[in-house]
Amino acid sequence: MQEINEKYEPLIVAFCCNWCSYAGADLAGSSRLSYPANVKIIRVPCSCRVNPMFILKAFQRGADGVILCGCHPGDCHYTTGNYYARRRMTMLFDMLDYLGIERERTRVEWVSAAEGNRFAAVMNDFAAKINELGENKRLEDLRCKN
Ligand code: FES
Repeated sequence: MQEINEKYEPLIVAFCCNWCSYAGADLAGSSRLSYPANVKIIRVPCSCRVNPMFILKAFQRGADGVILCGCHPGDCHYTTGNYYARRRMTMLFDMLDYLGIERERTRVEWVSAAEGNRFAAVMNDFAAKINELGENKRLEDLRCKN
């Protein structure tokens, strides 16, 4: 019994834009498609609202993986928000290399409101990858561990 309680459960944070990805997550839910319960969704107005520092902060607060989901390129509700997000994330990936955090712990995916299947598939795949990588201890701030 003890072994079951101590089984590693990664904590995954998913930033989802309100107009596409969050609606895709909603569709996945209403279509009864399953994705891991340890994916914690944070709804943001647009993917460009996510400052790369939010992602570093999530790692610091104990996240093992962080995924950013937005509208497909060309479909952003605010026209170009996801282009800005994509550029920022490219820079973040280099920064993660510098910090010694595996860049596979972060991912950018475009999911439309009609892609409930895709949302579930992406989350299942990402969770499997994070499970493989194991616990993230690089930026862990022990003050956040309670
Ligand atoms: Fe979805 Fe901008 S509104 S990425």
